[in-house]
Amino acid sequence: MKKIILDCDTGLDDAVAIINAVADKDIDLIGITTVAGNVNLKYTTRNTLDILYSIGREDIGVYMGEKKPLKKELHTAEDFHGESGIGDLILERSPVSCKNIHATEFMAKTIVENPGEIIIAAVGPLTNVASLLIKYPQIKKDIRGITVMGGSLSGGNVTSFAEFNIYADPEAAQVVFSSEVPVTMIGLDATMRAKFQKNDLDFLREKNTKWSSMTVEIFDSMFRIRDSHGKDFVVLHDSIALIASTETELFTFENHPILISTEGEKRGETKVHKSGQRTKVAVGFDSEGFKRYMKDILGNTEG
Ligand code: BDR
Ligand code: CA
Repeated sequence: MKKIILDCDTGLDDAVAIINAVADKDIDLIGITTVAGNVNLKYTTRNTLDILYSIGREDIGVYMGEKKPLKKELHTAEDFHGESGIGDLILERSPVSCKNIHATEFMAKTIVENPGEIIIAAVGPLTNVASLLIKYPQIKKDIRGITVMGGSLSGGNVTSFAEFNIYADPEAAQVVFSSEVPVTMIGLDATMRAKFQKNDLDFLREKNTKWSSMTVEIFDSMFRIRDSHGKDFVVLHDSIALIASTETELFTFENHPILISTEGEKRGETKVHKSGQRTKVAVGFDSEGFKRYMKDILGNTEG
């Protein structure tokens, strides 16, 4: 079992990743930290609490983090996630609030208590993770790894150069990618290979478990938004990054130093550089294997 702190900006695909993290027996979900990104911090935190409640796992601690990027203004993505961040879904309010400890303090404490064991799966802008590394540099050696959903070596999704999570806080990405902590980058080069069509999750419709019903609701909401953009597929970026340390055989990796642009039209671009810390970059992904994974994990009747 891998001990994972999920750092997210919940978000529709973040919401699916939360369900995956709960349902996957190879993942020990230690806690969830929230960051501003797809929508503001209040919504990303509320969505996280409500998703956990919807699947009966409100016992998992939620820790609120940074409300704006290190240097830039907050750039959100309501176009793709709706005004509240979870499309047109109206979830029942969780009676549970987030914990009274800042996300970075929770991360630092957990890492110190579990030296060499914690993987941070960061599936939103990297503001929380960068703040952790800036505030507590002494704990870097004790972090097992940081998996980043973000970046691309083959063009972006916010601009032609930049992927959303890196674009949203490029200075934070610079801190993380040069931190000396092992970084795995799961960018669009991998995630865009797994395009889900409407019927790809049909097998879940007859399951009728909390995990399957919630996933189907999120998936349907994603499709309503995608339809309005004239697209007939959805991509589960954050689930793919979440499983990079447990389903390694689905990925093809290369090791490269990565340079991040922070300004101008190339802001948020991630490109291979001559020197610097090497990042493990996913350059290939087995999309059929991923669909089988989703079937195994979410089709489980225990949920
Ligand atoms: C990333 O951007 C967000 O909108 C998604 O949740 C995902 O983390 C994809 O570029
Ligand atoms: Ca996200």
